[in-house]
Amino acid sequence: MTWTSKSFLEWSAERLAQAGIDSPRLESEILLARGLHSSREDLYRNPDRELGEAERVLSKSFVERRFLREPVAYILGRREFWGLEFQVTPDVLVPRWETEILVEKFLQWTASESSPESLRILDLGTGSGNIAIAVAKELPKSRVTAVDISRSALAIAKANAWVHEVADRVRFVEGDMFACELKTSFHAILSNPPYIEEDQRDSLMPDVRNYEPEQALFGGPDGLACYRQILLQASQHLEENGVLFLEIGNGQVNDVLSLIEGHGGYHAPEVTLDYMGMERVVSAQKKKSHG
Ligand SMILES: C[S@@+](CC[C@H](N)C(=O)[O-])C[C@H]1O[C@@H](n2cnc3c(N)ncnc32)[C@H](O)[C@@H]1O
Repeated sequence: MTWTSKSFLEWSAERLAQAGIDSPRLESEILLARGLHSSREDLYRNPDRELGEAERVLSKSFVERRFLREPVAYILGRREFWGLEFQVTPDVLVPRWETEILVEKFLQWTASESSPESLRILDLGTGSGNIAIAVAKELPKSRVTAVDISRSALAIAKANAWVHEVADRVRFVEGDMFACELKTSFHAILSNPPYIEEDQRDSLMPDVRNYEPEQALFGGPDGLACYRQILLQASQHLEENGVLFLEIGNGQVNDVLSLIEGHGGYHAPEVTLDYMGMERVVSAQKKKSHG
């Protein structure tokens, strides 16, 4: 049988629908476009284009991987974040659009700084390096330190920093949060830490549960372990008036605000909503003469 783009897409959309994928047609187009080394626009322009044997085998393998709920980003090996393309593998969390709110909120804060370009910034739990690299691109004289406990994640983050030409300004450090040689203090600390409760494991989508790295997902029994760890130590590593920006999970805002208040070393907490209206980022400033 001869396969055309059109007939392949019909088969593929049906196959992905059977697997419970939300946007089977769209994802089919993305996967076939990659299999043909072309674009979705080309698929529309040439629906009757015949697939070669190698193209069919490759595209079909992508669809079968997605059928098993492997995330599209891992199949393609890349994901866009902040308008930049990031290499991603199963060693790193797939960057989420919500995390752009953290970058946005941080950049808004920099506008009030006297020399925003030359800030020293710490990104805790850098994963693919998406936050660190987006920030380094936006602030061309800034120096960013990016920490992760996962050596394999750091290898991906370093590769991304090279591709985006910020490797000379982003220092990658392997370590458990602050338990590494940080060498300096920071004007801002950013983090999207693991924040899912352990017992929510079974309710996660298989795409997440079966494919994304455990240590990027779970934040201890109540999901708050990393926030406790970060809040306890961040003030010692922040400059006077330095600011902490944390991404939070759904329903965690009150707990994180309580942790901030309980610590006593931070003030002016702010909560920022994402585009779905969910509380997504909490920021707080280090109090003067603390830490
Ligand atoms: C939710 S992912 C965020 C990745 C990336 N920053 C993003 O926003 O897509 C959390 C990251 O924190 C790292 N991590 C988990 N526990 C850590 C710890 N104790 N110290 C440093 N990094 C940690 C994980 O390896 C993972 O890369």
